[in-house]
Amino acid sequence: MATIRITPSILNGDFTRLREEIARIPSADAIHLDVMDNHFVPNLTFGLPVVQSMRAATSAMLDAHLMIEDPDRWAPAYAEAGAESVTFHIEAAHAPVRLAQELRARGARVGVALNPATGADAVAGILDVVDTVLVMSVEPGFGAQPFLDLVLPKVAALRRLIDAGSREVWLQMDGGVSLETIGRCVDAGADTFVAGSAVFRSDDPDEMVRQLRAAANDRHPATDLG
Ligand code: DX5
Ligand code: ZN
Repeated sequence: MATIRITPSILNGDFTRLREEIARIPSADAIHLDVMDNHFVPNLTFGLPVVQSMRAATSAMLDAHLMIEDPDRWAPAYAEAGAESVTFHIEAAHAPVRLAQELRARGARVGVALNPATGADAVAGILDVVDTVLVMSVEPGFGAQPFLDLVLPKVAALRRLIDAGSREVWLQMDGGVSLETIGRCVDAGADTFVAGSAVFRSDDPDEMVRQLRAAANDRHPATDLG
């Protein structure tokens, strides 16, 4: 059975109390930080100063999702700020292989993200230099959007490509993940899950993290049936 990771997004948390919000989800495998620049996506959230503050505030793994233009220039600084994983969008990178090497040289896990309309073929040739493929199951820019089932065939195709390779690459879902949708994401082959509103709009965010992990572990995708 694949290792399941739940990486909640703080986008739906209370930005006036980020330290406390992070402390509410001790069961999380990482904290997903949605960096938005109001250019690559039509929304603005936070940047390096906030990530540096969060690094000082928690020992939890920080999973930076950069929805920004020119990640080639800016992404390495997020690794230097202490994010253990830095994910850039393939649609925004000018030289993704060089950027992956720059991030790896700074000790960060390398993530590459695909918008809903971007095909698996956009990253098929660089799986040897990334550690995570992030599949957007909503159009990026906002939390609490409906899950787009149309990305599931792409998830299955990426799972086949990853399994055909020799390296462990996390296959992460981002957008509309909840108790209602996580099962079909596991069935398609995903193993890592961002959940923003499902976690922070629940009465007990940490209990929701545990329920999401249990729901994912209860699925037995065909590959596990031998
Ligand atoms: C959207 C972000 C997602 C979003 C997830 O652009 O990348 O991480 O915050 O939020 P939910 O889980 O509410 O869709
Ligand atoms: Zn995200």
